[in-house]
Amino acid sequence: MVDIHNHILYGLDDGSRSINETKAMLRAAKAAGVKTLVATPHVRKAPLNPDVVRPRYIRTAEMAEAIGLRFLMGAEVFHAVAMEMDCQTLLHHCIEGTNTLLLEFAYDTLPPNLDRMIIHLQRQGFNLIIAHPERYEVMQRHLSIPKRLVKLGCELQVDAESLNGGLFSRSKKCAKQLLKMNLVHNISSDAHQVSDYKQLKKAMEKYGHMLRHSYFLEELS
Ligand SMILES: [Fe+2]
Repeated sequence: MVDIHNHILYGLDDGSRSINETKAMLRAAKAAGVKTLVATPHVRKAPLNPDVVRPRYIRTAEMAEAIGLRFLMGAEVFHAVAMEMDCQTLLHHCIEGTNTLLLEFAYDTLPPNLDRMIIHLQRQGFNLIIAHPERYEVMQRHLSIPKRLVKLGCELQVDAESLNGGLFSRSKKCAKQLLKMNLVHNISSDAHQVSDYKQLKKAMEKYGHMLRHSYFLEELS
C-alpha cells in the first residue's frame, strides 16, 4: 500500500507536532500495511523552505528506514500557489524523483478556469493527482467534474476518513460514488495524527479492491 497524502513531517503544518509523534505515525503506517509513504505538507501560501524541511526530512527518512518503510518527499500544493511557481520550484514539490504533483483546491469553490489550469500544468510536463475530490462541495454536486479530470489524465486520491464517515456524510457519499464510477486511483490517510492510520487500514480493507489501476502508483509501491 502506498500512502501519497499525509502530514507526517513534524512542525510544518497542522499535522505532526513533534518528532515523537512522527515516529508513532510511521509505526502506525507500517502496522496499517503501508510500504511506501510520501510526506505531503501543506503548501498554501508560499513554497516550502528547504532549510526548514531538510532536517525534518532527514530525521524522518532515517526513522522510516529503520522500520522498513520507503519514505519519499512530496507536498500538497494549493492550486493558486502552484500556478505562481516557476517550473523548477514546482518540480521540487512533486513526489520525490517524479514529475507528479498532489494538487489541492478550496473546499467551497473551484477555480473558474479549472480545465485550462490543469491543461497548462500538464503541458509543462506535470502529472497531476487531485487530493480528496470528495471533499470539494462543487464536485460533490457535480460528479461530471471529477470524471472530466480523469479524462484529462488526472488521477484521483480519496481520503480514508471520508470513506469511514457517518451515514449522512457528503464526502462519504461522493467518495463511494467515485469508487463505483471507477474514478479513484488511490486511497490515502491524509494523516494528521496516529489514529488516522487505523482509518486507512479500515478503508483499504473495505474499498481497496475498487481502485482504478495506475501505472504510476504501481511503480511507486
Ligand atoms: Fe492533506
